[in-house]
Parts: sequence; structure tokens; C-alpha cells
Amino acid sequence: MRIAVIPGDGIGKDVTAEAVKVLRAVGEVFGRTFDLVHLPWSADHYLATGETLPANGYQMLRDQFQAIFVGALGDPRVGDNKHARDILLGTRFELDLYVNYRPVRLLDDRLCPLKDRGRKDINFVVFRENTEGAYVSVGGRFKAGTADEVAIQEEVNTFKGVNRIIRHAFEYAVANGLTKVCMADKSNVMQQGHALWQRVYKQVAAEYPAVTATHQYIDALAMFLVKDPGQYQVIVTNNLFGDIVTDIGGALQGGLGMAASGNIHPGKTSLFEPVHGSAPPLAGKNVANPMGAILSSALMLETLGAVDEARAIERAVEAAIVEDQTTADIGGRLGTREVGDWIAKRIQN
Ligand code: NAD
Ligand code: IPM
Ligand code: MN
Repeated sequence: MRIAVIPGDGIGKDVTAEAVKVLRAVGEVFGRTFDLVHLPWSADHYLATGETLPANGYQMLRDQFQAIFVGALGDPRVGDNKHARDILLGTRFELDLYVNYRPVRLLDDRLCPLKDRGRKDINFVVFRENTEGAYVSVGGRFKAGTADEVAIQEEVNTFKGVNRIIRHAFEYAVANGLTKVCMADKSNVMQQGHALWQRVYKQVAAEYPAVTATHQYIDALAMFLVKDPGQYQVIVTNNLFGDIVTDIGGALQGGLGMAASGNIHPGKTSLFEPVHGSAPPLAGKNVANPMGAILSSALMLETLGAVDEARAIERAVEAAIVEDQTTADIGGRLGTREVGDWIAKRIQN
């Protein structure tokens, strides 16, 4: 398998090194060759060369690799986030990675931040629409920087975009023996764009009579995620809301360092990354939790059909938590590298 590896910025570099370590370990044990091709695309590279990614970058990712692994992108020296927009958002758009798959699974009761809740309550997936919504950058600023400034940024919702992500959520539920899907929008206020979500959701839900389809406004959903997360199996929502609620999802799993994701176009080259960002204050200090990145590598292998390999990684991560071989953010005493070493060794034994 040929995989593009983009460590990116900040702790993205730290956690990617550990995910790579674990991939190599699992490759050895299962007799698989992972051809991991590191690409330097990052803030450092952009500031040194003026290039975010090469002109044929997206095409190269699409045509030459089975998957893409990203650490994180974001650096205070790049104020307008240009490189992250090109490398991360650009790849989501250009490769049409319309499914942002973000599982929220508590791996150990001790990591739960909620009183009297545990593994049985926190086990659901979020499907975040990943190619449109508020992320399209349609709009502009008029009289910028003056007292008369007007700033417009439109949200784009298309039938194609909304239909395919909602359909994906129902298909996932059926394929995984789940019976509940909840769609979240703000159709009480966004009466044009989110009316489309309402219409499509009702239409698609009618095709899946075995699945109970519910709806919550996004503000209520954010509240219920904290108060009663056990009610959810599958959540589907738009790009911006999905971004926000999956940080809550990260916290429900013990912290943002635990959360994994896949940016997927079924059947095509897809991108896997932890949900967290580059956390500049933690960068290079051997303190970042690598588990979200390592679990993202498992999602990547699972999506590529290497299911046993993915399970082996997940089991090793769970063992590390049970045996307290973790970083400080989830209560442990180890550094980033030591956690990666432990998980890799666990897989080898
Ligand atoms: P962040 O996710 O980088 O960090 C927020 C806080 O969460 C950190 O200060 C830290 O306390 C905690 N945290 C995150 N990951 C952790 C880990 N692995 N281990 C331990 N603690 C962890 O969010 P931010 O500070 O808002 O953003 C920093 C930069 O990252 C920005 O430039 C932002 O745009 C970018 N970003 C990138 C991605 C991505 O590449 N996918 C995602 C989110 C943010
Ligand atoms: C994420 C991140 C990105 C997003 C940023 C870095 C552009 O927060 O993947 O969750 O908003 O999608
Ligand atoms: Mn985010």
C-alpha cells in the first residue's frame, strides 16, 4: 500500500511519527508492506519556498496513493492559514472527500469527563458533510478595514452534497446493525439552506423504515451530547456544525488527543487525520497524546480493507489505557514517543 504522509505543523509532526511507528509494527507482524511517502507540506515549507503544495499536488495524491495520512496543519506564523486551506481543505474539496467520519467511542470509563457515565453511554459516530456548507469561501469584504466594512460569507448547500452525506449515514447505520440516525441543523433560523436538509432528510429517511430518524437543532444537540450522549448512534450534520460537535466528541472520549477521523470518498483515495490541531504550545515537547493519530491510522487500514491490522492497533491502544501507559492529558506519566513505543511493542508481542 502506498500512503502519503503529511506530518504538517506543530504536534502534527510529533503524533505522526508515532502513528508511523505503529504502522511499521503492524506491517511487520502481518507481513504487509506499507510504502509511506513523507511529503514536507507544512508552514515551514510554505514560509521557506512560498509553495503550499505543488501544482500537481492534488492529482498526485489522487493518482499515486491509496490513502493520505495527515498530522495537523496550522501555525501562528501563517496568519491567514493559507497553507492549511490549500493542503487540508483543498484536498477535501479537490478529492471530493465528502464524508468526514468521526467516531466517538469512549475506550475506558476512567477517561469519561461526565459524572456517572461510561463506555455504554459514549459510542456513536458523527458524519460531517465535508465539501460545502460554510467552508466554501464564497463571499467577500467590501470597504475592508474601514468603519463601513461589509463582510459576506455565504453557506452553500446543494442537493447533491446534502443527499449523499445523509444517505451515507443511513447506509452506515444499516450496514452496522444500528437503528437510530439523528440529523442536526439550524432550520429554525437558516430557513433557506437548512430547509434543504429537512426536505432531503425526510425523503431519505422514508427509504429506511428500519431506522428511527430523529432531528435536533444543533444547539440542543450540543447540550444533549453532554447531558445524555447515550441516546446517539449516528449523527449527521453539516460541515461547520460537524466541526464543532466533534470537538465535544473529543472531550467525551477523554480529550481531543483521543479523537480519530477519516475524510472519505468511498472507493477513492481518502485522507485520515486526528481531529485535533497543531497545538503550538505543546509542539516538539514530547507531551502530545498520539492516540488520536494512531487510531486514525487504524481507521485508514480498516477503510483500505486491512481489518485485522486495524483491530490490532485498536486493541493495543486500549491496552495502553488500561495499563496506564499514557500521556498526561489523560492522566498518564509517559511522553508522546514512549506511548508510541509501548503500543508498537504491544502489537509486536
Ligand atoms: P488544537 O486542537 O490544536 O488544540 C487545542 C487544545 O487541545 C490544546 O491546547 C491542547 O490542550 C489540547 N490538545 C489537542 N490535541 C492534543 C493532543 N494530541 N494531546 C494533548 N492535548 C491536545 O486547537 P487550536 O489550538 O484551536 O488550534 C491550533 C492550530 O491548529 C490552529 O492553527 C488551527 O487552525 C489548527 N487546527 C488544525 C486541524 C487539522 O489540521 N486537522 C484541526 C484543528 C485545528
Ligand atoms: C478540523 C479542523 C479544520 C476544519 C481546520 C483546521 C480547517 O478544525 O479538521 O476539524 O475546520 O475542518
Ligand atoms: Mn475542528
